[in-house]
Amino acid sequence: MYNKLTILGRQSALSLAELEALLGDHNVCSHGAHVALVNDAGTPLTHATIGGTIKIGEVIGSYPTQDFRSLLPYITTWLDTYTKDLPEGKLKIGISLYGLKGQPRAIGAFGLEIKRHLKSQGKSVRLVPNTTSDLSSAQVFHNHLANELGVEFLIASDGKETVIARTTSVQDINNYSRRDYHRPRRDAFVGMLPPKLAQIMLNLAQAEKGSTVLDPFCGTGVVLMEATLRGCQVIGSDISQKMIDYTEENLKWLSEVYETPSTIVSLGAADAQSASWATPIDHAVCETYLGRPLSILPRREDLEKIRSECDSLVSHFLTNLLPQLGAQSRCTIAVPAWKKEKGFIHLPVIDQLEKIGYNRHSFSHANYTDMIYSREDQLVARELLVLTKR
Ligand SMILES: C[S@@+](CC[C@H](N)C(=O)[O-])C[C@H]1O[C@@H](n2cnc3c(N)ncnc32)[C@H](O)[C@@H]1O
Repeated sequence: MYNKLTILGRQSALSLAELEALLGDHNVCSHGAHVALVNDAGTPLTHATIGGTIKIGEVIGSYPTQDFRSLLPYITTWLDTYTKDLPEGKLKIGISLYGLKGQPRAIGAFGLEIKRHLKSQGKSVRLVPNTTSDLSSAQVFHNHLANELGVEFLIASDGKETVIARTTSVQDINNYSRRDYHRPRRDAFVGMLPPKLAQIMLNLAQAEKGSTVLDPFCGTGVVLMEATLRGCQVIGSDISQKMIDYTEENLKWLSEVYETPSTIVSLGAADAQSASWATPIDHAVCETYLGRPLSILPRREDLEKIRSECDSLVSHFLTNLLPQLGAQSRCTIAVPAWKKEKGFIHLPVIDQLEKIGYNRHSFSHANYTDMIYSREDQLVARELLVLTKR
């Protein structure tokens, strides 16, 4: 039933929620830490638009063992068929284990047995050495292991079944850093939304090609860039004209570098609490004002002031947005949550969503507490609210 095995990002529950939004609950199944089995036959997954999945592999088979070495006969049999019609050239082989015990040296020895088998068939092979039990996306990418003449075996156990898959695609780290670090305009003060997170947010909102995406807090335009790349029409606004200029410049750069047509419906300065946008709006996807950047948690009264300012802004914005959304609109709104010793301090408006007129979507594979994107070094996290009209 599941045709693909996926290796998930750092916040794996959030990645599962993204897969669930894309493929439907019944087509996603967690398979141990940071791994999921999915059925993407109806909607093929592509690394061009998915943010939370590091590797995607085609399932070869599933076996009731916890000893990866016992899988050698299955792997060699599969390779015999795979290599039959390959073009001339050196075959590169890599091995990654998930949820299984295996020191790099033991994996290396296993790889040598695979190599020996292929050599006995007259094939020329290079083994990509492991320094840890799994190869990084950079190793897969740079060694071309997801190409025709490359094979990375993903061997993943959930404690009962071990699935073998062959990597068919891997996150393109160079492309992400091009959009993240080499776009003309960045602004450390308004914050740096990682392009991967913008993709996750667009997928949680189910923003498909041809639909219209509004970002009313567009800042430097990261959400609108990712929306443009997937073929959405975009509407952007921000209270600051400087940010509108930055977004315009970044979108222009994007359309030149990625040769994508510009899909801007409108872009202009406006207060999100009172703006009227061009309609119809299929999705609002944004991170609201997150309060000022913090390096240490301020005194209680000061944090309360920041929280109440953000709360009022989000509450007014959501009220203003509601009548401008289409009946089927689905939105992803990132709002601030502040890290405390244990857990997070949330915005009070989250408990008022129904009253304002929204349903908060819940996912089978992630709790609300999993829907917080947070980094070790940051005090202000982003809480993701996936909303529909009530
Ligand atoms: C966290 S930043 C968004 C950054 C953005 N995601 C990016 O890619 O650069 C929040 C943005 O909200 C804007 N902002 C603050 N108050 C606003 C308001 N009342 N209406 C609209 N925009 C506002 C700020 O100017 C800032 O650009």
